[in-house]
Amino acid sequence: MIDVRALAEAEFRDSVDLFRRALLRRPPTDEEWARRRGMLEPGRVLGAFDGGELVGTARAASNRLAVPGGRVPAGAVTAVGVRADHTRRGVLRALVRAQFEDVRQRGEPVAMLHATEAVIYERFGYGVATRHRRVELERARAVFRDDAPRGGRVRVLTREAADLLLPEVYERCAPDRPGRIERARPWWSGTWGFLGEDVLVAVHTGADGVDDGFAVYEPKHGERGTALEVHDLTGADATAVAQLWRFLLGVDLVDRVVAHERPLDEPLEWWLADRRQCRVTEVADDLWVRLVDVLAALRARSYGAADPVVVEVRDAVLPDNAGCYRIGPDGVERSSAAPQLGLDVAALAALYLGDQPVSTLVAAGRVEVRDPAAVAAADRLFGTAVTPWCGTGF
Ligand SMILES: CC(C)(COP(=O)(O)OP(=O)(O)OC[C@H]1O[C@@H](n2cnc3c(N)ncnc32)[C@H](O)[C@@H]1OP(=O)(O)O)[C@@H](O)C(=O)NCCC(=O)NCCS
Repeated sequence: MIDVRALAEAEFRDSVDLFRRALLRRPPTDEEWARRRGMLEPGRVLGAFDGGELVGTARAASNRLAVPGGRVPAGAVTAVGVRADHTRRGVLRALVRAQFEDVRQRGEPVAMLHATEAVIYERFGYGVATRHRRVELERARAVFRDDAPRGGRVRVLTREAADLLLPEVYERCAPDRPGRIERARPWWSGTWGFLGEDVLVAVHTGADGVDDGFAVYEPKHGERGTALEVHDLTGADATAVAQLWRFLLGVDLVDRVVAHERPLDEPLEWWLADRRQCRVTEVADDLWVRLVDVLAALRARSYGAADPVVVEVRDAVLPDNAGCYRIGPDGVERSSAAPQLGLDVAALAALYLGDQPVSTLVAAGRVEVRDPAAVAAADRLFGTAVTPWCGTGF
């Protein structure tokens, strides 16, 4: 019998040790723990117990997710781990159930996470709501076009200066882009803790004198020469982002620039004289979203101009979400009308921020069509002008 309860603060470190060992990593040192402990939110660190012994853990942090036309309170789920001698016995299932209950009680219509493996979370109703790509460029060949955006200046910062400045700059960087989440103070201190001593920071200042973008990067020396690995790069507009890329591609002694977790619509190839020099080496799932309260989550976003569509949602884990919803530009209601489309709550998550057109999920066999005219309407309702992107690990 597995019991799940919120851990007391005195038990937090045990939870982190258990999680780290589940990921086959060593537990944090005292110094690392001192930096990270602030990331654990009292009341939101869950422990699963078997006969009084801690055998699994999962935690969440209160956050807000940008959705088309607004923001929705969201529980940012992380540090999910089950002790190796207790896996495949339903410990995760028990933790997820308790966590959904807690997320709902806090009035968060959405839970979200980054998954270590793609096969774990869909069964609980999570779906891939944003994706990202990894790009790799040979510095000598990646030459910017003259008509690529240009302006402002870039300066490098010490880590201490960056620590003070970056939280403020992040606030200016595309705060309304669907998929974007907030970075509270403890996130910054915790994240610096994860990054190595060699990490460098560059900040872009716009022509108006305001700092409006930054890049966090790290030189890596290997058999293929020296690479700059970009951990984090964001800007308030295309000029800030282009100028940061120009800077990175101009650093002496560097052979390659490799950037992880970039937005799919970053126009890097359009800025280059030879677009093939922007090599996309991976496209992967980024943010997984779970609509824990489907009605509230659907109501939190806006919809494009189209006829309303009645959608039947299935939800085996939280069955009170199941039923028909009339979704239109004027809002969302529960409906007793005949459904035109049908889908599982995990598929709905893939539509939620506009990552996938409805028609793609129809082709994938993940949306059933009962009224063919509803597909084009649903594409227009859910479609967004901006490709969603999270870009923040947690
Ligand atoms: C992944 C992990 C949390 C799963 O915990 P668990 O207690 O073994 O999971 P459960 O027994 O509750 O399994 C629930 C379901 O998920 C499936 N499942 C769980 N982990 C899976 C995995 N890694 N691959 C495929 N299926 C998995 C189970 O087979 C089970 O399926 P069912 O509903 O059809 O019976 C645990 O194995 C673990 O800690 N792994 C290492 C750390 C890790 O990857 N953490 C995830 C961080 S995002």
